[in-house]
Amino acid sequence: MTTMCAATIDRYGSGEVIEINRIARPVCGPDQVVVAVRAASVNPYDWHKLTGTPLLMRMTGGVRKPNFRLLGIDVAGVVESVGDNVDDLVAGDEVLGCAEGAFADYVAAERATLVKKPPNVSFEEAAAVPVGALTALQGLRDHGRLRSEQHVLVNGASGGVGTYAVQLAGILGAKVTGVCSTKNVDLIRSLGAEHVVDYTTDDFTKNVNEYDLILDCIGNRKIAHYKRCLSDTGAYIVVGAPKGRVLGPVPHMLRSLIAFKFGSQRAAIFMAQQTPGDLEFFRELLSSGTMRSVIDRVYPFENIAEAFNHLETGHAKGKIIVSISSESLLGR
Ligand SMILES: NC(=O)c1ccc[n+]([C@@H]2O[C@H](COP(=O)([O-])OP(=O)(O)OC[C@H]3O[C@@H](n4cnc5c(N)ncnc54)[C@H](OP(=O)(O)O)[C@@H]3O)[C@@H](O)[C@H]2O)c1
Repeated sequence: MTTMCAATIDRYGSGEVIEINRIARPVCGPDQVVVAVRAASVNPYDWHKLTGTPLLMRMTGGVRKPNFRLLGIDVAGVVESVGDNVDDLVAGDEVLGCAEGAFADYVAAERATLVKKPPNVSFEEAAAVPVGALTALQGLRDHGRLRSEQHVLVNGASGGVGTYAVQLAGILGAKVTGVCSTKNVDLIRSLGAEHVVDYTTDDFTKNVNEYDLILDCIGNRKIAHYKRCLSDTGAYIVVGAPKGRVLGPVPHMLRSLIAFKFGSQRAAIFMAQQTPGDLEFFRELLSSGTMRSVIDRVYPFENIAEAFNHLETGHAKGKIIVSISSESLLGR
């Protein structure tokens, strides 16, 4: 059996329960591509799988221990082999996209969830993109129905989703206000926000009737306050909300849907989809330099636990990356 190194979990917990073990290398299905991973990014999605929270998730993910031992979804790397039905990628092509189990030397991805990596972008910058940018784009464009000239507020502008949302809202022609703390004000302005609200000194919800769309990555304000600062036909799009141990973001989401049920304003909740056309759109934006990844820190594979503990603080500046080099792990 050919083996590889992969991050595995056999119980729920914080970063310390992650082990790097030798397991079987994935084999390529007919519509799949095996990628030699160079970098993978950490998402709250992975953190939920690691901690087994909210507990509600364990109904499908495993009650006492995780059913699926691997972590990671955002990947960038080099094509190692392709399935029989894949005729537009060859070994050696550099790619980015989504694949379950990305914190490993090799991962099998569906062809449809990969695009070619632009040569002007590093593996780390490429691995940062998929979930964060898909969530931002689909929240703004599909669920927010954003139109050009509208005024968008991104709450949590400096995080993994927010740093792409600020840029994508601008690319879609909107006027953007980003909410972040003092240390990130310059960054958010550099990403194209016309206004920046420093949440440590200012309160965006005081701006009555101001925003056509709120993309909320934090969910830390009263719903009445979101309603107050939205325009009469404004949309409140819930991306993330406080991570309650039992039900997670569900109570905030339900409260939002109920509070917005009547009247001309509306609310939406959603789960980002791995849409091939959207990944292709990001490839073009990265190629032309129109969109960039903000990277907080790159951790070597050996220090993956620290990467998860960093995400857990809730104060990442952009994306946290794990760099994976098969060569450096050979001989383990
Ligand atoms: N619906 C979906 O499909 C989907 C997909 C992806 C993510 N999500 C959810 O979306 C949320 C955000 O994800 P993410 O990857 O962006 O998380 P993240 O990178 O961990 O977000 C961290 C950022 O949040 C900022 N922040 C913390 N407290 C804040 C506050 N009170 N006001 C404004 N900003 C604040 C931090 O800035 P400071 O350091 O300056 O405080 C930091 O930059 C998570 O809850 C995640 O589970 C949902």
